[in-house]
Amino acid sequence: MTDYRTSNGPMAYRDRGEGTRDPVVFLHAFPLNSRMWEPQVEALAGERRVVTPDYPGFGRSPHTPAQPDVRYYAEGILGLLDRLGLESVVLGGLSMGGYAAFACLRLFPERVSGLVLANTRPDPDSDEMREGRRKMAHHVSREGVEVLIELMMPRLLAEETRKNDPAVVEQVKAMILESSPDGVVAALGAMRDRPDSTSLLKEIKVPTLVIGGEEDAVSNPEVMGEMAEKIPDARHVILAGVGHLSNLEDPEGFNAALEEFLADL
Ligand code: MLT
Repeated sequence: MTDYRTSNGPMAYRDRGEGTRDPVVFLHAFPLNSRMWEPQVEALAGERRVVTPDYPGFGRSPHTPAQPDVRYYAEGILGLLDRLGLESVVLGGLSMGGYAAFACLRLFPERVSGLVLANTRPDPDSDEMREGRRKMAHHVSREGVEVLIELMMPRLLAEETRKNDPAVVEQVKAMILESSPDGVVAALGAMRDRPDSTSLLKEIKVPTLVIGGEEDAVSNPEVMGEMAEKIPDARHVILAGVGHLSNLEDPEGFNAALEEFLADL
């Protein structure tokens, strides 16, 4: 784990593997951190460089001093690419990582050679969701990140995974507890106010893998399918029996789709 200083403050990242083709940068979901990408890093690092940052206030990154917007996270990622001298990368994001990936596409599309949009959606929050974010932020400010375990777990993992895969459940809990309350509250505000990225989809010029879980209630297969249809060069993969954290719930299925996609890039 290494730290780097962005114009907005320090961020931490993991950097593994090497290869001649474009490195992959994976952006994590809320309220987790870069460790969620371990199964993909393990699978790819033999052939590719894989870089996985922690957003401010998550994992090993210190918290953010102000209320950021999604562009703030994208600026941090741009700072990381500059620091590492990466001119062109395959960018992947799951859920909030997808929201951050859309912000990256707005900020530096010329440095993205391929895109992985996992369990995410282009549209902004509904009023009801915005209200839910406000309530969740109040809970976390008062009671700490522990409350997220109960509040988020049914959203993050399919019922089947929660019942039958205690290792994944424990891994997700541990990552939640590594987040700081300030970072969580800041990210809730950034997600709540994120812009609509729907009109961006038709502008995406690079090959795109849209991948999600059949049981994902946050970004369901219908939403993901509509998103894939609007992206000129997209393929859509739905993983059966899997919820929101599809890369952790079905690492084999996720990695198979990822490796097939990356073979052409
Ligand atoms: C995530 O997994 O990043 C969040 O569930 C996204 C969201 O709440 O919109």
